[in-house]
Amino acid sequence: MIVPAGAVELRPPRLRDGGAWSSIRLRDRGHLERWEPSSPERWEERNGVLAWPSQYGALRRMGRQGTALPFVIAVNGEFVGQLTIGNVIRGALCSAWVGYWVASTRVGGGVASAAVALAVDHAFHAAGLHRLEATVRPDNGPSLRVLEKVGFRREGLYRRYLNVEGGWHDHLCLAVTVEDLPRGAVHALVTQGRARLA
Ligand code: ACO
Repeated sequence: MIVPAGAVELRPPRLRDGGAWSSIRLRDRGHLERWEPSSPERWEERNGVLAWPSQYGALRRMGRQGTALPFVIAVNGEFVGQLTIGNVIRGALCSAWVGYWVASTRVGGGVASAAVALAVDHAFHAAGLHRLEATVRPDNGPSLRVLEKVGFRREGLYRRYLNVEGGWHDHLCLAVTVEDLPRGAVHALVTQGRARLA
């Protein structure tokens, strides 16, 4: 899918992504940390290159078990971020959450919108899910804009939902179901003139 930033693809993570993953995340602490769940481990430890094999192993394991669909976001073949569909629940819910990040040097060119649209279509068709949810801090303007461009609607406010930067923060809940996008999320972005097919 082509957007102003280049050709955006989702692909499975690889063991050899560690170098790119770590160098972006160590550099981009200021861009990423305030939107991600708190952790007792230091940023440098959990994002150092030595942390990748266990992160990669956990993502792969969840992928194999069917509880998550982990992706790397690539632009013109280069690693620029991650998108994960997590907490996949089947049965009468057929639901999951989606979360993502893009390197600070690659923002503003439609990368996250394209990645989320590709993920939504994959989740609803190849993976057979019915609903995707995203929780976002109300002050995360770029992320809210991404979700709204792709077709997510606001469903409510979760009070003191997630521990971020050491404190409990409210999060908006946005969601989309398969019925909301009869021709798919990629089609919606293309129709808005925001992307074209490769
Ligand atoms: N307020 C509102 N909108 C804004 C702001 C702002 N302060 N700054 C930028 N925008 C708009 C842009 O103009 C653009 O909209 P437009 O196309 O209508 O002009 C939109 O936000 C960004 O769209 P993309 O270019 O598709 O997104 P991008 O590739 O820049 O990535 C992202 C956005 C993922 C939020 C990136 O900034 C990032 O990684 N941030 C840090 C991590 C993060 O916040 N991740 C999301 C957590 S929430 C979740 O995962 C559900």
